[in-house]
Amino acid sequence: MTESPAKSVKCWGVIPAAGSGSRMAADVPKQYLQVAGATVLEHSLNALLRCDFIERVLVAISPGDKRAGELPALAGPRVLLVEGGEQRSDSVLAALVALHRLASPQDWVLVHDAARPCVAPGDISELARQVIDSGIGGILATPIVDTVKRSGDDKRVVETLARERLWCAQTPQMFRLGVLRAALEDANSKGLAVTDEASAMELYGEAVQLVQGSPDNLKVTLPQDLHLAEYYLSGQRSSSQ
Ligand code: C5P
Repeated sequence: MTESPAKSVKCWGVIPAAGSGSRMAADVPKQYLQVAGATVLEHSLNALLRCDFIERVLVAISPGDKRAGELPALAGPRVLLVEGGEQRSDSVLAALVALHRLASPQDWVLVHDAARPCVAPGDISELARQVIDSGIGGILATPIVDTVKRSGDDKRVVETLARERLWCAQTPQMFRLGVLRAALEDANSKGLAVTDEASAMELYGEAVQLVQGSPDNLKVTLPQDLHLAEYYLSGQRSSSQ
């Protein structure tokens, strides 16, 4: 179990797991693929559950999803299932609406993609510690190591971006429940597509701090990502034995 960063503050988890994972081109959505002895979703969920400062975790699944009911980890006392939506942000919003019945708007929520099974519980705790200490919401992220190009529609380079201040956003992303819900609803009402919680918060005028995570916390997207995930998860298992 990972220690609580601050016992007086309530934190909740949300896992959007209602995607179809079309880029994986598998028979089942990528969150249900097996890796290192469990499904991708179970690894992601267990990483949050190992953080004992997280009260409960709401998992958003597709309407009609029959696989979730077959996973024992999803039947645990700290897990609640909710119905997700068409886009990732709809799934997160559905979980936040359900969470509002249990939690206060001032409580913190950690949103973590089902597709990131290798996140280290120590990195989740460090994110929570920094966010709670500063009172400013934040996300795990890694500094960009490659040289980054921006292209036009014709795939020709328009410019090379200075990489010193560029980061890859990961999850978990941690914000207060009330303002996160308001920010996502605001983006929705304006028809703005947001692919993470931080984007919605930025558009809403809120500060977002970056907490350096690990490149191991990859998002399983393409078939080859499963091999890497297997490698990282096996490494985590042997270092915890
Ligand atoms: O497709 P992508 O990898 O960006 O999805 C990120 C996460 O959002 C995945 O865990 C996926 O299951 C979830 N998602 C969702 N509802 C959607 C689309 C994606 O919960 N409608």
